[in-house]
Amino acid sequence: MDFSILTSGHRQALTLDHSEGFMKKVVIVCNGGFGREMRTYVEDAFPEGSGHVLDRIMDLFPDDSFTPAPDEVFLVATGEPSIKAKLVTKIEAAGGTLLTVIHPTCYVASTARIGRGALLCPFAFVGPHAELEPHVTMNVHSGCGHDSVLGSFAVLSPYASVSGGAVLGEEVFMGTHAYVAPNKKVGTRSKISAGAFALEDVPENSLAVGNPARVMKGYFD
Ligand SMILES: CC(C)(COP(=O)(O)OP(=O)(O)OC[C@H]1O[C@@H](n2cnc3c(N)ncnc32)[C@H](O)[C@@H]1OP(=O)(O)O)[C@@H](O)C(=O)NCCC(=O)NCCS
Repeated sequence: MDFSILTSGHRQALTLDHSEGFMKKVVIVCNGGFGREMRTYVEDAFPEGSGHVLDRIMDLFPDDSFTPAPDEVFLVATGEPSIKAKLVTKIEAAGGTLLTVIHPTCYVASTARIGRGALLCPFAFVGPHAELEPHVTMNVHSGCGHDSVLGSFAVLSPYASVSGGAVLGEEVFMGTHAYVAPNKKVGTRSKISAGAFALEDVPENSLAVGNPARVMKGYFD
């Protein structure tokens, strides 16, 4: 797995982000509600003197021409994993760099591993030996239990939580207050609806709803 940042706590991650020696301009991609929230979180995580300064919020569409400046770093602020994956791929293909944001109120265990481009919003919890693959988004008060794995581009909405040893595939979406039980697996691109409790494995490309969660047939057909 590609972990560009191996943390011994989020402060070390921030130190690594700041280590390149010259001022970076932070560009937030996606000018929606989450983009505006991220603006505040970036200012909290990168105060004056940190080496990063917020520059602008912009929209970017898959067909837009795009050339990043050498002093720019980007974060893609959308809660839709498939859109985020497309935009991150476009930015990286153009030579752009994705910023990792770990809000100072988060708890990140010293043994957890945080992949590049993670966005950890206020009060997110990452437990011991948890692994976040690149470009994971953890919104406010979301939790990732010990030894769990969040696949690339996974999104945990506010208060969503994953118990110990659970594994989310790539591009999994969890709505607000959604839950995955210990050691259960959620397949690639599946969605756990707001408030749903996944007490069993969820196959890939599925929508799971309710408590206990049931898979809605034909959602992706
Ligand atoms: C996962 C989610 C995004 C899927 O949305 P969607 O693609 O628009 O799917 P729909 O809402 O059309 O739901 C599909 C089916 O599942 C059902 N369903 C969705 N959520 C449900 C729930 N929580 N409980 C019971 N049924 C539910 C719908 O009634 C629908 O059933 P139908 O086909 O018989 O009409 C949506 O269910 C959800 O959780 N939204 C909340 C997102 C959220 O928390 N955002 C936080 C932003 S900060």
